[in-house]
Amino acid sequence: MENPKELLNAQAHIWNHIFAYHRSSALKCAVELGIPDTIQKHGNPMTLQDLANSLAIGPNKIRSLYRLLRLLVHSNFFSMTKLVDGEEAYANNINSQLLLKDHPCTLAPFTLGMLDPSMTEAPQYLSKWFQNQDESVFHVVHGRSFWEHAGLTPELNQKFNRAMGSDTSFVSSVLVTSKDFKKMVEGLGSLVDVAGGNGTMAKTIARAYPWLKCIVFDLPHVVDGLQGNESNLEYVAGDMFKKIPSADVVMLKWILHDWSDEHCVRILERCKEAIPSNGKIIIIDMVVDPQAQNNNHFHAQLLSDMEMMALNVGGIERTEDQWKKLFLQAGFNHYNIFPILGIRSVIEVRCL
Ligand SMILES: C[S@@+](CC[C@H](N)C(=O)[O-])C[C@H]1O[C@@H](n2cnc3c(N)ncnc32)[C@H](O)[C@@H]1O
Repeated sequence: MENPKELLNAQAHIWNHIFAYHRSSALKCAVELGIPDTIQKHGNPMTLQDLANSLAIGPNKIRSLYRLLRLLVHSNFFSMTKLVDGEEAYANNINSQLLLKDHPCTLAPFTLGMLDPSMTEAPQYLSKWFQNQDESVFHVVHGRSFWEHAGLTPELNQKFNRAMGSDTSFVSSVLVTSKDFKKMVEGLGSLVDVAGGNGTMAKTIARAYPWLKCIVFDLPHVVDGLQGNESNLEYVAGDMFKKIPSADVVMLKWILHDWSDEHCVRILERCKEAIPSNGKIIIIDMVVDPQAQNNNHFHAQLLSDMEMMALNVGGIERTEDQWKKLFLQAGFNHYNIFPILGIRSVIEVRCL
């Protein structure tokens, strides 16, 4: 028999993976209950009893609240401090601050959208999909693609678009302050954000660069009825596989990872038709780097890759070599990668 100590460690390792979903459930619960907001509103670290009182959690559940918080503190979502009288109290840290509902870059809607049961159900059927002919894991459960399903399920559509908007608020606020990005759009007259969702990215860009005419382009069920307050922003409905409105720059934020190589080449070809010969495409997506120094980033990239596999037809997070192949196939001969967005990068693609 193998070394019993090693076997017991292996058992703990397996348990940690089996029950890892409790970490996401606890995170979702914290956002739904508004624990970060409650602590923030209090202004000081909060004792368990104060927190229970503010959240209207009765005495019969206070021990459960303690256990929830113990896991969240262990997962580095809150920090634990001691008050002058020695009582333990919970404080927000940088991770839980990003979950505050009114933080300008809040990831609370992203957390709730990504952890909605309609999103977390599909991965349960991964092995079934490996052994059948369904187009995607999502098809195994719903019999249609995620995009078709979202189009027919208003509640999911709204939750998903809010989730994307929240991620995009976060990314766009970092992006527009980047010197590299400013250089990319300097001197250009127009930008179309293809599959731009509810327009969060285009709005931030339109405000930061008022000389740039911005278009949000997405499916009709996403953009119909939307309009911005910015005079240099408009919404256009359509299908990116058919025709993309003309502009000097086409932006694709978090789009190509949803699609197979064949689909991506078609999208990139449509983008090429939409830009002038000196135009460019700006892609915001992951560049998976197995050699990455930051293991936390690499881990997030691997999880995101599984999310793509579960939800989309051919969805994948790509390595630099895989990106390069797509660009060449779509007729582009030059690209630059700017690793300025943490787990994601900005990729500038054009023809020289
Ligand atoms: C992952 S979301 C990204 C949204 C936005 N770029 C962002 O990051 O917030 C993908 C977007 O692709 C849009 N989409 C899917 N198929 C499309 C198509 N054929 N034409 C245009 N947009 C499409 C969806 O409606 C959705 O808004």
